[in-house]
Amino acid sequence: MRIFVTGSDGYLGSLLTPQLMAEGHDVVGLDTGFYRTGWLCPPHLAIPGEGPAGSVPLTRNSDIRHIKAEDLRGFDAVVHMAELSNDPLGDLVADVTYDINHAGSVHLAECAKRAGVSRFIYLSSCSVYGVAEGTVDETSPLNPLTAYAKCKAMVERDLTAMADDEFSPTFLRNATAFGASPRMRFDIVLNNLCGLAWVEHKIAMTSDGTPWRPLVHGLDIAKAISCALRAPREVAHALVVNVGSDQNNWTVREIAEAVADEFPGCELSFGPPSGDQRSYRVAFAKIREAFPDFDPRWDIAAGARQLHRVFESIAMEPETFYGRGHTRLKQVEYLLKTGQVDDSLFWVQQGRDI
Ligand SMILES: NC(=O)c1ccc[n+]([C@@H]2O[C@H](COP(=O)([O-])OP(=O)(O)OC[C@H]3O[C@@H](n4cnc5c(N)ncnc54)[C@H](O)[C@@H]3O)[C@@H](O)[C@H]2O)c1
Repeated sequence: MRIFVTGSDGYLGSLLTPQLMAEGHDVVGLDTGFYRTGWLCPPHLAIPGEGPAGSVPLTRNSDIRHIKAEDLRGFDAVVHMAELSNDPLGDLVADVTYDINHAGSVHLAECAKRAGVSRFIYLSSCSVYGVAEGTVDETSPLNPLTAYAKCKAMVERDLTAMADDEFSPTFLRNATAFGASPRMRFDIVLNNLCGLAWVEHKIAMTSDGTPWRPLVHGLDIAKAISCALRAPREVAHALVVNVGSDQNNWTVREIAEAVADEFPGCELSFGPPSGDQRSYRVAFAKIREAFPDFDPRWDIAAGARQLHRVFESIAMEPETFYGRGHTRLKQVEYLLKTGQVDDSLFWVQQGRDI
């Protein structure tokens, strides 16, 4: 297949594109490059089977808001990952979050449809469920609480309305990712706790850690995307599916304990129960039915082990963990403060966006 991957330079994008290329797909990436200065390690430390240089697709250095239908002609599928990718970032620049994550994503899908691209894989999130009692599945009511989560729900709604005989969007509601990536993120829970355990030898939780969190390794998300691309059209068409596994619903306390077990000498302490004890688990039965060959491999202990090995291999220093290179909010704040991007998060330097 000819596949156009947006956000190809991101945490998940840099795990996905080598896998798609290894499967024989012709991949073209697009990324505006907000986080390009953050590169944690050679790809082979994070991606089994990769060489030190990694397989990097031809990548267009551009913003999804500038894409035109003719840019997408000739592709069989779009995998769309280029958004502002967490709640704190969404709160920092809420208007721009709607501009990129909602309007930009719908614009990209409209261009894809006009260009005759029949398959569109959208990286949604379990955050559309907000906080809920008990276990949620794909039929549960949505309760998005932040700009980031609201945009995910709005894109699902608007792209579902575009689905027809020529255009099949698929919505992957991912659990929170973990695991090593060359373009690392330390602002997601397991990666953050592993970094603390390595740098500080100490994890001091401010709450008792009882809330549940669904997690999934980035390489397993890449597998789910590959399955979605291979699925027959009648399966993938307007499909909404949670991405993760029932075994990877954990309490925050269990996540912290798994990390402390992996990093010898790591002190672990918990605070009092927090006022807000709401939490939720996510059911992952539907993805096993929709994609019978989806076979997620990684649990949190294996993820912590992988990160420990990477930190050892690169002798990771505190500045790397605490710096802006691997924390989305810090990097975007820096780009704004130094005037490298304008208030709409377009690069200011002339000729940067092509
Ligand atoms: N990582 C997770 O835990 C997780 C969980 C659920 C869903 N998702 C979704 O998966 C996708 C990828 O997440 P990630 O963790 O790789 O995030 P990331 O921030 O590492 O990557 C996003 C990439 O998109 C690019 N980008 C952002 N805005 C752009 C624009 N307007 N034009 C072009 N490029 C732009 C950035 O430069 C970055 O390289 C996002 O849509 C995210 O919401 C991620």
